[in-house]
Amino acid sequence: MGTTIFSVMSALAAEVGAVNLGQGFPDFECDPLLVNQVTLAMQEGHNQYPPMPGAAPLREAVSQKIKALYDRHYHANSEITVTAGATQAILTILLAVVHPGDEVIVLEPCYDSYVPNIAMAGGIVVRVPLTPGTFRPDFNKIESAITPKTRAILINSPHNPSGMVWRHEDMLKLQEILSATQVLLISDEVYEHMVYEPLKHHSASSYPGLAERAFVVSSFGKTFHVTGWKVGTVAAPSALTTEFRKVHQFNVFTVNTPIQHALARYLADPGPYLELPNFYQRKRDLFRDGLTQTKFRLLPGEGTYFQCVDISELSVPEKNLGESEFCKWLAKEIGVAAIPMSAFYGDGFDQNVIRFCFAKQDKTLNTAIERLAKL
Ligand SMILES: Cc1ncc(COP(=O)(O)O)c(C=O)c1O
Repeated sequence: MGTTIFSVMSALAAEVGAVNLGQGFPDFECDPLLVNQVTLAMQEGHNQYPPMPGAAPLREAVSQKIKALYDRHYHANSEITVTAGATQAILTILLAVVHPGDEVIVLEPCYDSYVPNIAMAGGIVVRVPLTPGTFRPDFNKIESAITPKTRAILINSPHNPSGMVWRHEDMLKLQEILSATQVLLISDEVYEHMVYEPLKHHSASSYPGLAERAFVVSSFGKTFHVTGWKVGTVAAPSALTTEFRKVHQFNVFTVNTPIQHALARYLADPGPYLELPNFYQRKRDLFRDGLTQTKFRLLPGEGTYFQCVDISELSVPEKNLGESEFCKWLAKEIGVAAIPMSAFYGDGFDQNVIRFCFAKQDKTLNTAIERLAKL
C-alpha cells in the first residue's frame, strides 16, 4: 500500500508554497469555547482511561442528538461507541463483521481508506460505480452486485469527493433492496452537517429497515473544525455494537478522555452544528462564484466542503496530462493544490475532474481563485 494522495499533495503544497485546497481540513480555528472546555476537562482531572466504549456523558449527548435530528433512539450504553475518528470506526467495523472471502460493496469513487480496510479484513472488494457526471447511485447496478457472499455495503452521503447528497427516495430504494437480504450497511455520514439548501441529510438511522442493519459513522473533526482531534462515533443496534466493541477493545481500546468530556458539554448547545450548513454554504457560494469566471466547469456542490470541477475546457495544454499529473503541475506552476478524482477509484479512472476543498478562510479562497483564473 502506497502513501495516500492526500499526504503527497499536502507535502507538495508545503514544498512549493501552494494554496492547499487538496486535503480536506479547515485553515481556520475552531470555536475557542471548545478549546476552553478541553482545558477545563484536563484541569478537572479527566486525564486517565475512560470506559472502553467512550465517556458516558458523550455517549448520552450523541444519543440525544441522533434522537432529535433523525428520530431514532440509540441506547447510550449498548449502542453508541466513541472512536478515534471515522477512519478507525470504519476499519473496526470491517474487522468485526467481515470474514475472509466475504464480499463488501463500495460505490466508487470512494474515500481512500475503504478498499485497503476491506482487504485488511480479508474481504473481497466489489466496486460499483456511481453515475459519472452526477455521481448518483445506480440502484440497478447495486442490486445486481449483491450475491449470497455479500456481507456489507458501504455508503457515504454527503459524498466525498463529489459532494453529492442522497435523497429520501435513494434511502428508501436502498432499504427496499436490502430488505430481502442479510447484508449489513456501513453508512459513513461524516459530512452530515454540510448539506446545502434545498436538500437535507437523510441518515440511515431514520429508516428502520436500514438502521436495524447499520453502523452509522460520524466524526466531530468535520463538524467542529477539529480534524486533528480524531474523535468520532459509531451508532449501531446492540448486537452489532457488541461485535464492534470486541475489536475496538483490542484495536484502540479507548479514545482520549478530556476531549470526550469537552465534546459532551459542547454538544449541549445545538447551535454550532445547526449553523454549519449556512457557514459552509456561504463559502461554497464564494468559491463557486469565483470559479464561474474561470474555464473550470463546475460540478454540482450539494454537500460536504468539496467542490469538483471538470478541467477539459481549460486553455492550457497541461489539461491533457491526466488528472494526477495535472494536479502536480497545478500545485507547482499555478500554486494551488487539488486532488485528482482518479485517486478515489481502484483502477484510477480518469474523467478530467479534480477536487478542491473550500473549508478555507475567504482570503485563501480568493487567492486560489485569482491564481486559477489564469487558466
Ligand atoms: C468520507 C470520509 N470518511 C471518513 C473520513 C475520516 O474521518 P476522521 O478524520 O474522523 O477519521 C473522511 C475524512 O476526510 C471522509 O472524507
